[in-house]
Amino acid sequence: MLQVIKSIKDMKQKIKTIKDSHLTIGFVPTMGALHEGHLSLVRNAKKEHDEVVVSIFVNPLQFGKNEDLRHYPRTFDRDCELLSREGVNLVFYPDITEIYPDGFCTSVIVHDLEDKLCGKTRPGHFRGVAVVVLKLFHLIKPDSAYFGQKDFQQTVIIKRMVYDLNLDINVKVLPTIRNTEGLALSSRNVYLTETEKKDALCLYQSLVKAQCMATSGITDTEKIIREMKKIIHTCASATIDYISIVNPETLEITSEVRNGNVVTLAIRIGRTRLIDNVILTF
Ligand code: PAF
Repeated sequence: MLQVIKSIKDMKQKIKTIKDSHLTIGFVPTMGALHEGHLSLVRNAKKEHDEVVVSIFVNPLQFGKNEDLRHYPRTFDRDCELLSREGVNLVFYPDITEIYPDGFCTSVIVHDLEDKLCGKTRPGHFRGVAVVVLKLFHLIKPDSAYFGQKDFQQTVIIKRMVYDLNLDINVKVLPTIRNTEGLALSSRNVYLTETEKKDALCLYQSLVKAQCMATSGITDTEKIIREMKKIIHTCASATIDYISIVNPETLEITSEVRNGNVVTLAIRIGRTRLIDNVILTF
């Protein structure tokens, strides 16, 4: 039976019971509007742990002033139905005031990593992510926490935070789940019109091009990005926020592509900003 817990006090009690029984916890933090990407994280957490906790919290601190906080899809009943079907027993679904009581003024800054890539056009975004994830980690005390590779920069920042603060949490990053045509699943895909959904395939197509070029021995970053841009520019509704090839730990831009570098991009399709990436293997 799925139990929904809304208060920190009740959650602490529940976690204490689990820990007292020496059971392990797999944790999947989400903002709801669940799709197959989230469910693949849940399935892995279930396989690897005795208990799975899923949090559903649309975190206002990670949205910029002109971003989509008010319109972000909220599908709580459907989310619970999906989680029940996966055999999840425990959902943490706090109100905003539960997480950020009056006077809340603590910030978590993972310097050097937070202002690169997406951080350039979304200032403050990763501070918002880091503080809520750290709060959730303290509360839920998971053995492992599961994240999707689609949010690549987020995973690098969380891994760094966990390492720097000596948290005993295994951060697991699982592959991006795509639709049959290659579009990475995202809660924000619901904003796309049918035409935009087709245009959005240019993200994956440009990433595939980058992988093919690297496989064929081309290591000049500029050359690869030039060819990727050509693909993006064939889509009327697409505008480029950034396309970069980076070191997977430091997020530093590389001029010469190496095995394991990450091609990462943010593209606006109409008014919707989408992100995607691939880890180059050659
Ligand atoms: O990836 C997300 O959905 C969010 O950034 C997260 C990790 C749940 C924090 O709000």
